[in-house]
Amino acid sequence: MQEVVLGLLGLGNIGGGVWDLIRTFGDEVETRTGMRLRVKKALVLDKRFHGGHEVPEEVLTTDGAEILEDPEIQIVCEFLGGEQPAASMMLRALENGKCVVTANKMALSLHLDELRAMAQKTGAGLYFEASVGGAIPVLTSIQSPLIANHIEQMMGIVNGTTNYILTRMAAEGAEYETVLKDAQRLGLAEPDPTADVEGMDAAYKLSIMGSLAFHSRIHMEDIYREGITKVTAEDIAFGREMGYVLKLLAIGKDNGESIEARVHPAFLPAEHPLARVDGSLNAIYLYGHSFKDMMLEGRGAGDAPTASAIVGDIILAARNRTHPVAYFRPDPLPVADDWQSKYFIRMKAKDAPGVLAEVTGLLAGEGISVSAMMQKGAAPGGKATLIVITHSAPEKAVRRVVEALNPEICQVENVIRVEG
Ligand SMILES: NC(=O)c1ccc[n+]([C@@H]2O[C@H](COP(=O)([O-])OP(=O)(O)OC[C@H]3O[C@@H](n4cnc5c(N)ncnc54)[C@H](OP(=O)(O)O)[C@@H]3O)[C@@H](O)[C@H]2O)c1
Repeated sequence: MQEVVLGLLGLGNIGGGVWDLIRTFGDEVETRTGMRLRVKKALVLDKRFHGGHEVPEEVLTTDGAEILEDPEIQIVCEFLGGEQPAASMMLRALENGKCVVTANKMALSLHLDELRAMAQKTGAGLYFEASVGGAIPVLTSIQSPLIANHIEQMMGIVNGTTNYILTRMAAEGAEYETVLKDAQRLGLAEPDPTADVEGMDAAYKLSIMGSLAFHSRIHMEDIYREGITKVTAEDIAFGREMGYVLKLLAIGKDNGESIEARVHPAFLPAEHPLARVDGSLNAIYLYGHSFKDMMLEGRGAGDAPTASAIVGDIILAARNRTHPVAYFRPDPLPVADDWQSKYFIRMKAKDAPGVLAEVTGLLAGEGISVSAMMQKGAAPGGKATLIVITHSAPEKAVRRVVEALNPEICQVENVIRVEG
């Protein structure tokens, strides 16, 4: 039997979940792996409040140094959340030669370069499977069983809160604000939902999984990001009539010369495997040159699913001790500021002669052809809803058309990319 001595930074939702999983399933893990996991210390802000987990008094500490500087602790597990002090504590642990296991997408995404460099310098392992997709083993898959591939494309539903909101908007025809309030009441959305609904959480995750998949660092500031706050029940209903389902997608593509990295709402054909991933579930669709296509699906959040990935990482860290730090190519690919997509453009247009010609004329002027068009609610002299779906076109060209349309005649109400 090998004893593995752990220090936990934070005993909130995830830290407490890891504590509980080790307490209730540690014997079984020992039988399967020959490793006995022992939490020597857990960092809390106040020893009196630690979420009601049965943690002995002597395990609790309010001093991070008791974990980071203790030579007996081999693996530091970080569950504080946020950028600091999480990032500097992980850096210190690696500097002291300890493996780090974390679920913290924000600190990782913003500090991956320094953390990776320190891990390389000291040879300590840096493990972060739980930072993307909770229980879904996407990062391990990219780095190990799928390593013999040029991964050309990834599309992920990696934020459960927004997927829950969009699923309910679609099922009930309800508006965004109504469903958000309900999700907050049910504890499925944070009181301040900004990080989720504005796509930041998904962008942190794309920055991490895209960097690993494309072997080229994708920084947060290079990711195009658009949240779900402008999506209306009307957009979803019109999309459905035309055979599409709306999702918030984290999209990464590697064309060999540049990388696309974007997070935004997108319509998918109803038959696409991601289109049926509903509620708070997560899924990541990958395309690699040898495995072709694959989808990984499961629970992307919650204490127990996340703890499952973390304990998996703890075992990997204990087995390997050092980590073959993900390979990044020496000549990083630039992140593109333009890309090809199809576009759903919803407009309120004057029901008058010449309006359609103006819209199609501007599109044609940019070399954009139309694949479908729908008009609703026409009343002579009044305004009708006009939906145009384009064939694949450059993003910048579509933006130029939208800017050029005369709002007196044709007011663009929403533009949603169509993928898949
Ligand atoms: N929740 C999920 O489903 C999920 C899934 C995947 C990944 N993650 C990631 O896991 C991490 C933890 O999330 P969580 O949901 O467990 O958050 P949480 O419940 O807020 O837990 C964080 C804990 O750390 C404590 N803490 C913060 N700063 C501290 C400090 N300086 N010293 C000591 N304790 C400190 C907090 O104490 P107070 O509460 O007293 O402030 C809290 O108990 C985040 O990075 C998150 O992104 C979460």
